[in-house]
Amino acid sequence: MAARGMATAVAHPNVALVKYWGKQAGAGNRPATPSLSVTLSGIATTTRVEAAPADRLWLNGEEVQDAKVAGFLAELRTAFDIPGLAITTDNDFPTGAGLASSASGFAALTTAVDAAFGLGLGGTERSAWARRGSASAARSIFGGFVALVERDMEPIAETVASAEHWPLAVTVGVASRRMKSVGSTEGMERARATSPFYKAWTTSTHDDFAAALRAVRARDFDALAEVAEHSSMKLHALTLTSRPAIVYWAPATVAALHALAQLRRAGTGVFASIDAGPQVKAFSALDDADEVAEALANVPGIERVIRCGIGPGAVVTEAG
Ligand code: DP6
Repeated sequence: MAARGMATAVAHPNVALVKYWGKQAGAGNRPATPSLSVTLSGIATTTRVEAAPADRLWLNGEEVQDAKVAGFLAELRTAFDIPGLAITTDNDFPTGAGLASSASGFAALTTAVDAAFGLGLGGTERSAWARRGSASAARSIFGGFVALVERDMEPIAETVASAEHWPLAVTVGVASRRMKSVGSTEGMERARATSPFYKAWTTSTHDDFAAALRAVRARDFDALAEVAEHSSMKLHALTLTSRPAIVYWAPATVAALHALAQLRRAGTGVFASIDAGPQVKAFSALDDADEVAEALANVPGIERVIRCGIGPGAVVTEAG
């Protein structure tokens, strides 16, 4: 299909099993450590781009200014001839509250721009561009279990196992729909500059990544649960020991962690993962997802439960 300056793309948020928190020095938005995530099904960002006299952005129906998007477009225009853009982007889940809307957002935006203006990017290149917008977005270009690693001095995202390889359930307990106070970019820079644990984080994460990859390949739930919960807790140890400290958790976040631990003691395989916000993401076998969703829904302060699975990468839904 010839590119005529308009396209729509859909991308999904991802949840990291081994978290990214910290960048290498220098340009290009390069993570300091490897990370491993699952791309979610069940929630999505839909982004439409169209050639326009000047850049304008509508997020969930409201016109907004976004420095990250502006910076990303400026960088893209150093490599490609792209006109002004009218961008409309809609999330069917809470925006900016630790559900990785920047990951699905930059994955959808990069995919839509590629299709609209015939940039001819392959998946790896699209992922590298999405990373410049937001590093976790590099992973949302692909489906299933996705690694973001450094290879030949370049960060590269790739699917390491398909969704069918191990179709887990990811059940999200929404502990607060308020916008988060400190964004990831600022939070991770603060950790790098001030947390006494940052060095230990960067060295130990390599072993976490290797252990998680082995667990995914072997479909070893207990091994994955142990290392993924550890990685998530270690990230929050960084935010809590940054100066000033960042507390991403709401009271319901802690209550949900206790409820999931109780389920686990009663014999259900489940583990929790928390990103830069108060939401709790619970991983379990598909057969246990009803029980996990019910347990989360019964936690005081959990406003809503969203049922997700492991899903596909970013796709173009309309181009013309
Ligand atoms: C906690 O990808 O949003 O979700 O690259 O600065 O845009 P920038 O950060 P971002 O950080 C994601 C952090 C995380 C963990 C993860 O997804 O690995």
